[in-house]
Amino acid sequence: MSEHVSDSAEWQALQGHAEKFSAVHLRDLFGSDPQRGERYAAEVADLYVDYSKNLITDEVLSALFALAGRARLSERIAAMFAGEHINITEDRAVLHTALRLPRSASLVVDGQDVVADVHSVLDRMGAFADKIRSGEWVGHTGQRIKTVVNIGIGGSDLGPVMAYEALKDYAQRDIECRFVSNIDPTDLYEKTRDLDPASTLFIIVSKTFTTQETLTNAREARSWLLRSLSDDAAVAKHFVAVSTNAEKVADFGIDTDNMFGFWDWVGGRYSLPSAVGLSVMISIGKEQFADMLAGYHAVDEHFRTTPIERNVPALLGLLNVWYDTFLGAQSHAVLPYAQYLHRFAAYLQQLTMESNGKSVRLSGDPVTYQTGEVFWGEPGTNGQHAFYQLIHQGTKLIPADFIGFSQPNHDIGEMHDLFMSNFLAQTGALAFGRTLEQVQAEGTKPAVAPHRVMQGNHPTTTILADKLTPAVFGQLVALYEHITFTQGVIWEINSFDQWGVELGKVMANQLAPKLTSASAPADDADSSTNALIKRYRAARGR
Ligand code: F6P
Repeated sequence: MSEHVSDSAEWQALQGHAEKFSAVHLRDLFGSDPQRGERYAAEVADLYVDYSKNLITDEVLSALFALAGRARLSERIAAMFAGEHINITEDRAVLHTALRLPRSASLVVDGQDVVADVHSVLDRMGAFADKIRSGEWVGHTGQRIKTVVNIGIGGSDLGPVMAYEALKDYAQRDIECRFVSNIDPTDLYEKTRDLDPASTLFIIVSKTFTTQETLTNAREARSWLLRSLSDDAAVAKHFVAVSTNAEKVADFGIDTDNMFGFWDWVGGRYSLPSAVGLSVMISIGKEQFADMLAGYHAVDEHFRTTPIERNVPALLGLLNVWYDTFLGAQSHAVLPYAQYLHRFAAYLQQLTMESNGKSVRLSGDPVTYQTGEVFWGEPGTNGQHAFYQLIHQGTKLIPADFIGFSQPNHDIGEMHDLFMSNFLAQTGALAFGRTLEQVQAEGTKPAVAPHRVMQGNHPTTTILADKLTPAVFGQLVALYEHITFTQGVIWEINSFDQWGVELGKVMANQLAPKLTSASAPADDADSSTNALIKRYRAARGR
């Protein structure tokens, strides 16, 4: 048996398919198989997934499933769900799926009943959210909370802000949530400038409670509050924490009675369904938050129990590997036709790129192939008037996911039908294009005709659900989590650490004194950094 998946006969078979594939066009694949649109479609929970407009044949799919077998994908899925320490560089279980297990389930990991722990925190979150929503919880001067400000970054921000925006239609509208993440002082300034401290609640979210951006923003938020309320006792009514690190929370000055915990087996970018989602629960209420968790769980169960050949997240993950590793795609567009999902691509960037932006295998050997494509996107139809031109007529292979909903959250005139006709038209235009003969037949001038040819053959996957509800939202996020997992397994990388972000953090801490103190040496870094520091200090009068 070969040492690495990439040395296997299954891998080589896919390389062979890739070489032949430049001659295949979606026009021919659809022409020769009138059933392709129905044959290459699947359902997972409430999501209908049409993958027929991908650059695949039955042979390629079989080869991808064989590769999954060679990579022992089924065994790896089972290991994750069972709580094995698959995050080997941090010696941790990877159990975000336990965050959405129903109360009746049971899972003992490292001697601990994690389901009981999860539901005990969910119950505390629910009681707290109820008090904020009903106005029973009041601030230091007796006013009810009108604005919740989530301070966190990365997984402690991107999930909550994306979900808050996605589920706004289900929100209690007299409570607004805002999200401060950047250490650029502008972020805190703009998010607090028009707020009344007496009716503002800060949720400080940090898994480690050591993150420079979050702790700095939190300290400044506390000063902002105390400048107005002038009593240290006010902090207890206006600050709560979400963290795994009770000691650091107490050091910061937040009573651990006002802390909602989670566990080291929840990665930051997978933490939205934990206490990290507290702002979302306050916004939509504990019942709809539970609906969201049930949505996640439905897809988890599909992923855990369905054979790989019919397993939708596994299939979509394998398709991503096909494009990225074998056909040379560099990026992947995610295009939600839902304005409420306008932060979805930003959220996915951390989920996918922090997970799979790796170049060393679990064994410690460097990879010899491409991993981790660049995820990007904007909601349709805005993207159509911006970057779609490059996807349609440019030179790059960019697989794209189109996500749409049959029922609008708000039905205004014919707008939703027009919106969705764009959704359907784009994947057709991308797949089938327009030939020179068709362009000429329309009487286009010969000099212009080549410019109007659309080569087509651009792969897309369409994900259609009835309506963007909390449950469907949970399903969608879980789908992408498991796609990401599948890719990591095939690439034999650890999708659950993120050592690459550490060096920059260390260097920022080393550089900070040079920017703030005129007496600190400004000539002991590299010549580029030295010159920039001098220029910065001059501008700041230091
Ligand atoms: O960017 C690195 C990272 O560690 C992310 O993985 C994480 O989501 C983010 O920083 C924030 O970390 P924390 O929640 O510990 O403040």
